[in-house]
Amino acid sequence: MADSRRVKLGLLGTGFILNDFHLPALREIPEAQVVAVAGRTGGKTDAFARRWGIKKAYHGEGSIERLCKDPEIDAVLVALPNDLHLPAITVAAENGKDVICEKPLGRNLAEADRALRTVRKQKVIHCYAENQIFIPQISRAKKFIESGVLGKITWIRSREAHSGPHSRWFWDPERAGGGVLLDMGCHSIEVTRYLFGRRPEATSGWIATLVHETPLEDNSLVLLQYEGGGLGQCENSWTARGGLDVRLEVFGSEGSLFIDTTRETGIKIFTTASEEKTGYIVEKADAKQGWLYPAWNEFINNGYLAELRHFLGSMARARQPSENFEDGRLVNAIMDSAYASAREGRWLELGSA
Ligand SMILES: NC(=O)c1ccc[n+]([C@@H]2O[C@H](COP(=O)([O-])OP(=O)(O)OC[C@H]3O[C@@H](n4cnc5c(N)ncnc54)[C@H](O)[C@@H]3O)[C@@H](O)[C@H]2O)c1
Repeated sequence: MADSRRVKLGLLGTGFILNDFHLPALREIPEAQVVAVAGRTGGKTDAFARRWGIKKAYHGEGSIERLCKDPEIDAVLVALPNDLHLPAITVAAENGKDVICEKPLGRNLAEADRALRTVRKQKVIHCYAENQIFIPQISRAKKFIESGVLGKITWIRSREAHSGPHSRWFWDPERAGGGVLLDMGCHSIEVTRYLFGRRPEATSGWIATLVHETPLEDNSLVLLQYEGGGLGQCENSWTARGGLDVRLEVFGSEGSLFIDTTRETGIKIFTTASEEKTGYIVEKADAKQGWLYPAWNEFINNGYLAELRHFLGSMARARQPSENFEDGRLVNAIMDSAYASAREGRWLELGSA
């Protein structure tokens, strides 16, 4: 990392996750300066750069490589379709850049393995961007669990659901690498693992395509047996109506804990106004009228601000983030095992994968 006080960041991608979450969060972090963005097309990338006051916009053929070779850049944020994570991590790390990569780390364990080997070999800082473990209520839940107020933890249920992703590439098996299990199961799996504080021993997966016309699963359930009998229950759906639904339930021998970050937002609105007026109120809402539960400050409440501070703080201390590619790799290992379990219809030991 360079010595200057502000970390100079390069962004790979110009899509949803950057516009709606990472950029609003980065604006709140004075130690960070976004100096470049790489996108596919000139018009969109230039417009993105103008919108966020970014001085350099790389686009067209080789834009990812050109950004990663830019000597001004200290660190790269990978927010590209899943098939581009490994190539982007590789070129960034080989050019000595620290890297933060959106979930999932790879389309499968083999890719995640290669990503981890590369960043270790290049000795760069690597952060796995699992925002849900930085959600303020989930961080608080972790402290409650550690304090013992819930007793011995027996069951953790994590649910993330909506009615289906926004961009075409998510629906392309080759580009995405998997359906809802890979796309959102990665969150639920990592949340249960983070809260149990240990790796699971066995997986049981169920996947199904129930509504959408796609070769990918649009619903999944992953059960994880943790050492000592604790169960992680990871429920994910691309067919659930009513807007983004993120919930967590933790059960212990001496208590239980409930979190609902997308319905209990502290604000409810009823509207009959037309869509031109209401615009964006709820992420992936299926209705723009009637009773709505708007989220607010999502870049904080969904964990992005804390996640990016964690990455930048780790860079400043020249220490690996506590959530790094080893964690991302393990999530990919668990997901591969859950897919195999779903195919074989039985529990599978995770072993030392
Ligand atoms: N943490 C979360 O909850 C969360 C939510 C949404 C997406 N994500 C992850 O973030 C990543 C991006 O998702 P998104 O929703 O922003 O997708 P998106 O489709 O909105 O954006 C993808 C971006 O990648 C760019 N791109 C594609 N090919 C490129 C290329 N060859 N060179 C340069 N740019 C290219 C596109 O132009 C686009 O700007 C994915 O890995 C996804 O899983 C995470």
